[in-house]
Amino acid sequence: MKLRLGVNIDHVATIRNARGGDHPDPVRAAILAAKAGADGITAHLREDRRHITDNDIDRLMAEIDLPLNLEMAATEEMLEIALRHRPHAACIVPEKREERTTEGGLDAAGQHNHLAYFVDKLGAANIRVSLFIEPSEEQVAAAVRLGAPVVEFHTGRYAHLDGEARANELTRIADCAALAVKNGIEPHAGHGLTFDNVVPVAAIPQVAELNIGHFLIGEAIFTGLDASVRRMRELMDAAR
Ligand code: PXP
Repeated sequence: MKLRLGVNIDHVATIRNARGGDHPDPVRAAILAAKAGADGITAHLREDRRHITDNDIDRLMAEIDLPLNLEMAATEEMLEIALRHRPHAACIVPEKREERTTEGGLDAAGQHNHLAYFVDKLGAANIRVSLFIEPSEEQVAAAVRLGAPVVEFHTGRYAHLDGEARANELTRIADCAALAVKNGIEPHAGHGLTFDNVVPVAAIPQVAELNIGHFLIGEAIFTGLDASVRRMRELMDAAR
């Protein structure tokens, strides 16, 4: 099975918004990423619109050929936007205003009743729903109970650890990916992935998709977005 690469373009918008105006354009980045081998584009419309804006989502839906994966908090506002645009996929993420990035996975187990409404509404609109969760048996079991077709494992902890602790975290991700597949759920992974740490995650045979943003956009400053995405694609393909 080919491992898909979703390129997260949020931080192109971060740079744009640092000055206002419209440069650099995340839609242009999405088109370039597609040419360089991305299989999908991921964008997180945060409640505070700190990077991606509503207009970016309008334009991504209208101007790109690749499937859009909309990352969203489980709120009525975001649900309304998702249902209006009907992107290919929606990934439900926890969101805290004060955090710099999505710091941990959803508590799918503790928030069953709240999340069930969003999973059902998105699913009924034919939007592929994914839950961004920590790689734990408890969270996979909760995703099964919610009927989510996809989970995305938060790889932030894996990315920040090293040595034996990292190896243990990788084992947790691999075990949870196998458990997800056993229960009919497609496992994805993402957060904090780089050229240096992507290969072991990409080598987990059940993982169907990686969503990668910050590192690719940062690396693009030095080598260009095309080279940055191509290199990630090569590493991922070589790992399978
Ligand atoms: N997947 C999800 C659900 C995320 O929230 C993020 C960060 O926005 C990513 C993947 C990408 O993480 P990074 O920018 O660290 O590559």
